[in-house]
Amino acid sequence: MTDTRRILARNIIAALFAMRLMLAGGAGRAAEAPGGGPTHGAMPMDQQLTRVDALLPHTDDVKRAPAGVDPTIFALFVPADNQMTPARVALGKKLYFDTRLSADGTVACATCHDVSRGFTDQRAVSEGIRDQLGRRNAPTTMNTFVLQSLFLDGRAPTLEAQAKLPIVTPIEMGQPNGDAVTKAIANDPDYQRMFQDAYGRLPNYDDIGRAIAAFERTFVFLDSPFDQFLAGQNDAISEQAQQGWVLYNGKARCMSCHPLNRSNPIGSDNRFHNVGVSARHQDFEKLARQALAELQKQGGLEAVNSLALSTDLSELGRFLVTKNRSDIGGFRTLQVRNVGITAPYMHDGSMQTLWDVMDHYNKGGEANPYLDGGIEPLALSEDEINAVVALLFTMTDQRFADQNRAAFEKQRATAQTQRPFRDEALAMRRTLPFEQRVLGQQK
Ligand code: HEC
Ligand code: HEC
Repeated sequence: MTDTRRILARNIIAALFAMRLMLAGGAGRAAEAPGGGPTHGAMPMDQQLTRVDALLPHTDDVKRAPAGVDPTIFALFVPADNQMTPARVALGKKLYFDTRLSADGTVACATCHDVSRGFTDQRAVSEGIRDQLGRRNAPTTMNTFVLQSLFLDGRAPTLEAQAKLPIVTPIEMGQPNGDAVTKAIANDPDYQRMFQDAYGRLPNYDDIGRAIAAFERTFVFLDSPFDQFLAGQNDAISEQAQQGWVLYNGKARCMSCHPLNRSNPIGSDNRFHNVGVSARHQDFEKLARQALAELQKQGGLEAVNSLALSTDLSELGRFLVTKNRSDIGGFRTLQVRNVGITAPYMHDGSMQTLWDVMDHYNKGGEANPYLDGGIEPLALSEDEINAVVALLFTMTDQRFADQNRAAFEKQRATAQTQRPFRDEALAMRRTLPFEQRVLGQQK
């Protein structure tokens, strides 16, 4: 085949997969249609590389804090043994898109954190090698430089530690251990040269984690209409979105867990809360007992990692890390930046639209014994819900403006026909959760 024909064939295949996903009902029902062929439904890596080159600034000077980020804050999150250099970022970039890092050569970081999909996979839960589905939704890798812990339960302390885990997780990239992944790339002369340039050593597992982390620290997407508004340009966002900002800070109480300011640019308090997302399906007490028994048999980061990603115990969230009862069902507050383009939402990908997210908060989450004290019915009207949603869509970086607009239209259309989490009676406090339970009306 000639090159053009090969590209054409690949595009047709990609389009067919996209159609298949759409026919299956979108990301939410991807679980019923696993597969996605050799790319697992992600944009092919060479195309993602072209995109990322257009998105990220060509900084030879990656040592300087990115535009829009306070240099003191940026420096706080760069570890002493992994200072930013162009060679490290270049190596991390090659690794992030390299499917050779997985056991069967089909999955890269960019398969699940796809540049063309808001650095997520837009599925409810992720699919790794051999079409294996996990239990959690892939959060975006955008703006992760400023997170104080990684993963929804905070089990990894740094981006460096985080990046090493998916490589050896059986249902993700599936390498048996760090030596195996090193071996998979060690004979590549490009890598040999690049590891020398970056760290002065031959390829090794720790430096794979370091280089990927350095590359991820360049994923800074904080240039949105909302930022122009905060900087004093009132007409940068609509009046409706401005009303949403008032609600965000007031009646809707979003600010209490999603603070947004210069030292907190992504809107996460970095703490863990049970906002009732998992309470819908699980008997927490039984799961907690089971988890303690499992962790007694085998503890440590890798044990927690596999329980979190491939068992029902996933729903316990932060409890798996701390074994502290008050952490049952607790997950780290997710960022609100760029949420317009990272559906579906929450740790389990259970919500398709930002209207669903608002309906969930409006009715006071889902009652359970560990529900965060900050979650209670909000009594927001339909107009007020629309205003907060409009605000959230202004927080997407300008570079994704088209994608954001398309996502808004799509979500609005979905929300017009389905609002599975809406419960007016609870939201307006006409009935209380315990009454619904007692009267047997619980949905
Ligand atoms: C099979 C899909 C898959 C692959 C491959 C994958 N990830 Fe992830 N990633 C996920 C899921 C799912 C989570 C959330 C898991 C959790 O919180 O328990 C996650 C979480 C993360 C987070 C934490 C984000 C946050 O908000 O805490 C980062 C950073 C990340 N991945 C980077 C990477 C890197 C780097 C690689 C490649 C070495 C990679 N991922 C490979 C699915 C994947
Ligand atoms: C008590 C703390 C708390 C409050 C109050 C709160 N959130 Fe959250 N938010 C969280 C946590 C924790 C998560 C992750 C929960 C999970 O995945 O189970 C989350 C997740 C989200 C997500 C999903 C992001 C994603 O990428 O999946 C959005 C959007 C969001 N919150 C917006 C809001 C808005 C808007 C408000 C105000 C109406 C609000 N939150 C109020 C703690 C809170």
